[in-house]
Amino acid sequence: MSQHKIIYDTDPGVDDAMALVFQARHPAIELLGLTSVFGNATIQTTTRNARFLAGRFAPGVPVAQGAAAPLKRIAPDPLAWIHGDNGLGNIALDMSGAATLDERPAHRFIIDAVRAHPGEVTLVAVGPLTNLALALADDPQFATLVKQVVIMGGAFGTDGVLGNVTPAAEANILGDPDAADRVFGAQWPVAIVGLDVTQRTIMSHDYLASLRERGGAAGQFVWDVSRHYEAFHEESAQLKGIYVHDSSAVAYVLAPHLYSTRRGPVRVLTEGIAVGQTIQKPATMPVPAPAWDSRPACEVCVDVDVDGMLALYEKTILGTL
Ligand code: BDR
Ligand code: CA
Repeated sequence: MSQHKIIYDTDPGVDDAMALVFQARHPAIELLGLTSVFGNATIQTTTRNARFLAGRFAPGVPVAQGAAAPLKRIAPDPLAWIHGDNGLGNIALDMSGAATLDERPAHRFIIDAVRAHPGEVTLVAVGPLTNLALALADDPQFATLVKQVVIMGGAFGTDGVLGNVTPAAEANILGDPDAADRVFGAQWPVAIVGLDVTQRTIMSHDYLASLRERGGAAGQFVWDVSRHYEAFHEESAQLKGIYVHDSSAVAYVLAPHLYSTRRGPVRVLTEGIAVGQTIQKPATMPVPAPAWDSRPACEVCVDVDVDGMLALYEKTILGTL
């Protein structure tokens, strides 16, 4: 099995936590560190949660604290009605084994780890992209040393969906649209796993119950942490289950064949009523588009093998790969 050295840039967050367990349990993933960012909750809360998660599921993996607010805006309010008051579905958090905090800010941690392993590190970013943009600003050359950046964020309308927090924007991109536009335009290979595929991938109530029954402590945790999140999905989308956002980015790293992608540069609207909207110019589109044409192509996920993705997550939690 090929190995993936990953830095997990995250705003935990219930689905962030489920994706961390996925990574911690998959034998092909070597977690180099967790970097926190504001988003689903304040930076204090997401950092505390990252320390809890690393200590519980990935002992020895360091955590570095990242940005408290977007590059050019004030921090958004915590999404307590989605992720709970504590960001982790209101479950009790025993901090006795929590990871210690690295002394470096997240963006510096990322740069140092990439420079220590040139060409080998995958950045999995599942929150606002502020830490990645700060790293680019601090050390513009380091981008060329990153193996791949896999982002959960954005929406490209393939299912008629352009957003989940506004009609035009997905939460992580709206969290810091300026950062997202810089990250999509940098000299590194970017894959974007957005709502087009994450809202097509649903863990049903029964699927989650089966993980609880058969998945030991990890399965029980996934169940416990997702109770509040599942109730939110039922209220807001009449869904008997949950959308699989952040774990889809991990699945893309492990099994890209499960996803169909479209190549082309991506821009982010940074102002106006559609702020946070992500727009790709497909590589096959013949018209000139100066705002896109000078930028590198990104891979945008447009379809997914849902059963394959869910089976990968299940086998990883159950330890039956
Ligand atoms: C994304 O927003 C956050 O609330 C989730 O953790 C996920 O990263 C989905 O739009
Ligand atoms: Ca997230």
